[in-house]
Amino acid sequence: MKKSLLILTGHTKGLGNAILERFLSLENTQIIAISRTGLEIQHPNLTEVHLDLSDLAGLEAHLSKIFPTGDFDEVMLVNNAGWIGEVKPVGKLHPKGIRQVMNLNLLAPMILTNAFAKAYSEVKGRKVICNISSGAAHKPLAGWGEYCSSKAGLAMFSQVAAKELSDSGFRVFSLAPGIVDTEMQAEIRAADESDFPALDRFKSYKESNQLSSAAEVAEKIFYLLTHSELFPEVLQDVRNFKLP
Ligand SMILES: NC(=O)c1ccc[n+]([C@@H]2O[C@H](COP(=O)([O-])OP(=O)(O)OC[C@H]3O[C@@H](n4cnc5c(N)ncnc54)[C@H](OP(=O)(O)O)[C@@H]3O)[C@@H](O)[C@H]2O)c1
Repeated sequence: MKKSLLILTGHTKGLGNAILERFLSLENTQIIAISRTGLEIQHPNLTEVHLDLSDLAGLEAHLSKIFPTGDFDEVMLVNNAGWIGEVKPVGKLHPKGIRQVMNLNLLAPMILTNAFAKAYSEVKGRKVICNISSGAAHKPLAGWGEYCSSKAGLAMFSQVAAKELSDSGFRVFSLAPGIVDTEMQAEIRAADESDFPALDRFKSYKESNQLSSAAEVAEKIFYLLTHSELFPEVLQDVRNFKLP
């Protein structure tokens, strides 16, 4: 039977939790899941790692323990953990907030992608890195200077990594998940209107049921990960593909 490995960040809530649930339904996938907190579940395929990914020194110190060795036929990394950051205009941001969001949304995924590529270069089967980006990577939104910049950086890094790693068999994606009904959206709706001019639009998405569920987006991400050969482009948006 095929032996697979999934390394997933941000598995305790929202989209990451739905991705975790999808992979836990499989028999043969070993999962390393990284978040600050943990889940009250025991599963033979799941190993939880408690790490604050915005603490880069802590991440570097743990790095050698995150990537299991094994005779894997398929290896997948999903950099999903993220934060909207301070929803405030430039001039009202705090240096600590800027640092935290860039560390979590951009630098930790870069560090994990780099270590993953090194650890699994010899795997012969499917090797996929999926960095969860956002439509905001390509569209400036007032109040989201930290978030837009971090996701734009991640999208560019993914495109460079895709070029560099293709010869060794890795596929790299930067994936926008659409607007998903998670705590992150609740945090966005709690912003101050004077700091975030698009507040009413985001409130209306929720009121008019325009948000996707985390489970339906996770199903599409599962399909992308397990059928990567059908997706030639690095930049992906779940709103642009339908499940068969
Ligand atoms: N929701 C949307 O509409 C939307 C749209 C576009 C893109 N995205 C992207 O999709 C991804 C998932 O978002 P979501 O909406 O599911 O967010 P969420 O509900 O807020 O969940 C975030 C996850 O990341 C983990 N996390 C947060 N800070 C962390 C840290 N410092 N270290 C380690 N883990 C951390 C959280 O776990 P702990 O609290 O246990 O650490 C949680 O499991 C993010 O990258 C986000 O930018 C979301």
